[in-house]
Amino acid sequence: MICLDNDVTSDNRCSVEKIPENPTPPPHNHNNPAIRVTMMPRDTNAFGTIFGGMILSYIDQAGAVQARKYSNRRFVTVAMREVVFVQPVFVGDLVSFYTEIVKVGRTSITVRVTVEAQRAINPNEYVRVTGAEVVYVAVDEAGHPVPVKEPPGSV
Ligand SMILES: CC(C)(COP(=O)(O)OP(=O)(O)OC[C@H]1O[C@@H](n2cnc3c(N)ncnc32)[C@H](O)[C@@H]1OP(=O)(O)O)[C@@H](O)C(=O)NCCC(=O)NCCS
Repeated sequence: MICLDNDVTSDNRCSVEKIPENPTPPPHNHNNPAIRVTMMPRDTNAFGTIFGGMILSYIDQAGAVQARKYSNRRFVTVAMREVVFVQPVFVGDLVSFYTEIVKVGRTSITVRVTVEAQRAINPNEYVRVTGAEVVYVAVDEAGHPVPVKEPPGSV
């Protein structure tokens, strides 16, 4: 929110709320998120903010969407690294999960997931909530690792 000098009241409040003319664009507006979700009351913790486990679940799903774009294999999650929540998420926030592949190994794909919330109370405000690197392993029906890409001529 921007408060011009003329609009500041004697007790230091803002008498007129102004929407910035040039709101900060979302940091990731250059690509589409793998998942975008509005947070609901059912997603909250005991204190009324969004439960971190919900965000972790969406991170895992978003990364899997990216892995499946790369290869049609069946993937399981083997590791999720460096998850630090730097901002809370509130009911009504629109949360986007942006993904990029950072490494393709023999049987694994590592996906970076960046989580950003558009605030319900101020749609011009976008905050980075957290991020993670998630490692997925391609497996066969028995759950054994297999090469990410099927060898040419095998299908
Ligand atoms: C994923 C799983 C099949 C890997 O089995 P494994 O015997 O460790 O397999 P490997 O040692 O051959 O490793 C396979 C790949 O996983 C990677 N990997 C294994 N453990 C890892 C870890 N802790 N962190 C990052 N990558 C890891 C390896 O680097 C390898 O990648 P590469 O082939 O691209 O080099 C096995 O650990 C598993 O089934 N885990 C449970 C998965 C699951 O159920 N997830 C959902 C949890 S509810």
